[in-house]
Amino acid sequence: MNQTRVSKEQFLNSLSVRYMIRRDIPEVLEIEWASFAYPLTEEDFLHNLRQGNCIGTVAEHGEKVVGFMIYESHKYKFHILNFAVHSLYRRGGVGSYMVMRLIGMLPHPLCTRRITLEVRETNLLAQLFFRSRGFKAVKVLPRFYEDSGEDAYLMQYQLGPEVINAEKESFRDYFDE
Ligand SMILES: CC(C)(COP(=O)(O)OP(=O)(O)OC[C@H]1O[C@@H](n2cnc3c(N)ncnc32)[C@H](O)[C@@H]1OP(=O)(O)O)[C@@H](O)C(=O)NCCC(=O)NCCS
Repeated sequence: MNQTRVSKEQFLNSLSVRYMIRRDIPEVLEIEWASFAYPLTEEDFLHNLRQGNCIGTVAEHGEKVVGFMIYESHKYKFHILNFAVHSLYRRGGVGSYMVMRLIGMLPHPLCTRRITLEVRETNLLAQLFFRSRGFKAVKVLPRFYEDSGEDAYLMQYQLGPEVINAEKESFRDYFDE
């Protein structure tokens, strides 16, 4: 049948996501430098990851890191700080796999219902990607980026009321107390 589709599925089946460890940093930096005009340094990464609410994950294919995501966990939301897929693995579903995994963690721990991130106004491909995953641009943040002076769009994914109600139902005892 559709051979491309089958091989994409096979590829995604062999993908795994795990917490980022210090040993991953060289591969993560390689992806970072190939992905952004204003890349973060190793110190920036380590500084971010030392924050108590900051979580780093990598997508691995075999032994190879093919994508990473760094996000903050707040009471009511996850906020994505940094996210990129290895240029050779783009458009293969890795980015979706990582974002859908984060969406799958909502609501967590019961009240986290949103995922937010800032995206550069010139980063149209990332905007298209996040739109395709159900995110909406909700705000313009003027001159958000100190490096280029560019505006950012604040993009947000929010659980619908039906999902929240279903969750409330399954935690009825908790809410009735
Ligand atoms: C944005 C990024 C993470 C997406 O990762 P990815 O693994 O390539 O994304 P996926 O393969 O899961 O794409 C899912 C959908 O997003 C949309 N999309 C992704 N890349 C796109 C592109 N270059 N052009 C148009 N649409 C695109 C498509 O709808 C795609 O579905 P399709 O391939 O079935 O058409 C990746 O392009 C990247 O690392 N970019 C550079 C770093 C970056 O900009 N990070 C985001 C910072 S906010």
